[in-house]
Amino acid sequence: METSRRTVIAAAAAAGVAATVGAAGPAQAKGGSQKPVKKLFGKLADGTRVYSWSLANGGTRMKVLSYGGIVQSLEIPDRRGRYANVSLGFDTIEDYVAKSPYFGALIGRYGNRIDKGRFTLDGTSHQLSVNDGANSLHGGAQGFDKRVWDVEPFSKGSDVGLHLYYTSVDGEMGYPGTLKAKVTYTLTAHGDWRIDYEATTDKATVVNLTSHVYWNLAGEGNGTVYDHELKIAASRYTPVDSGLIPTGELEPVSGSPFDFRRTKTVGEDIREAHQQLLYGQGFDHNWVLDKGITAAPEQIATLKDPSSGRTLQIATTEPGVQFYSGNFLDGTFVGSGGHIYRQGDALCLETQHFPDSPNQPGFPSTVLRPGQVYRSTTVHSFN
Ligand code: BGC
Repeated sequence: METSRRTVIAAAAAAGVAATVGAAGPAQAKGGSQKPVKKLFGKLADGTRVYSWSLANGGTRMKVLSYGGIVQSLEIPDRRGRYANVSLGFDTIEDYVAKSPYFGALIGRYGNRIDKGRFTLDGTSHQLSVNDGANSLHGGAQGFDKRVWDVEPFSKGSDVGLHLYYTSVDGEMGYPGTLKAKVTYTLTAHGDWRIDYEATTDKATVVNLTSHVYWNLAGEGNGTVYDHELKIAASRYTPVDSGLIPTGELEPVSGSPFDFRRTKTVGEDIREAHQQLLYGQGFDHNWVLDKGITAAPEQIATLKDPSSGRTLQIATTEPGVQFYSGNFLDGTFVGSGGHIYRQGDALCLETQHFPDSPNQPGFPSTVLRPGQVYRSTTVHSFN
């Protein structure tokens, strides 16, 4: 059945027409491709216009904002062809600006935490913007998630997508060097969502870009993800202290709640009295991927919602993935579907270099120097 859906979609995509699949609704682009269409989403307080870009291909539909490169919605069909938005988000720009916990956003310059927002590079110490207790999180108070990106649509062969550009000036959020970032979102004819990150700098700096989509494969606002089945190809993870800064150790997952090498539900061990789960109020850790850094993206994680049959597979070039089980969703947000988001209502799988790498000589380096090009790719495939 899955194969026949794929065949219908692929044939339709090749013909550039809409496919009708299963019990799917109105005669709109289902599996066919839709070139990016731009619409005004709202305005920032200073009058800057924020646009929403809609695109579709191979059965996947998404809306992306010029603000933060935010994936405002991502729709995929269930096993019967019924679509749902599987990514948490808001309906208005005001909500994103006022209170978003990075829903769907691009994260930079540095995904996750840097201890006390401080690091030393080539003998010079740098103080970053501190926005998470004593630490710097996701690039500081005004990270890439809160910037307006230049967006350029493209369609190439059977792919459709967006190029997003942002230049972060020397000293922004305390980071050295002017960093030119380019992120490409591609929807392929198979409905895969691929992210290619690129960056260059004019002074030595540190970079760790990622994407902060909150997944709920049953559809956003449909309860917790504790029944989702998860598999992560990692034999070790990086334990943290009470401020969620890695201790520097690479701890085996074996015999602990952190062992997702065989598929288990997110909820199976989340209430175990393990010190690391107390620190994170659930899972909020970096898994050390067995494959390490790779030139091409390799499969590292599978997430499945058994009730809908929707599956997400992630492949990446990165050496780590932050699995965050939505622990700090506290019932204070009303999401795009009109429901309140509570603890565990979604999870993030953020492909990345390890948190606090600039202060951890034992971790793979996140240093980028003039003349080098930072490159990272992550592919999300849906079944
Ligand atoms: C971090 C969490 C943090 C969340 C922000 C995740 O990437 O690991 O600790 O609370 O982002 O919503």
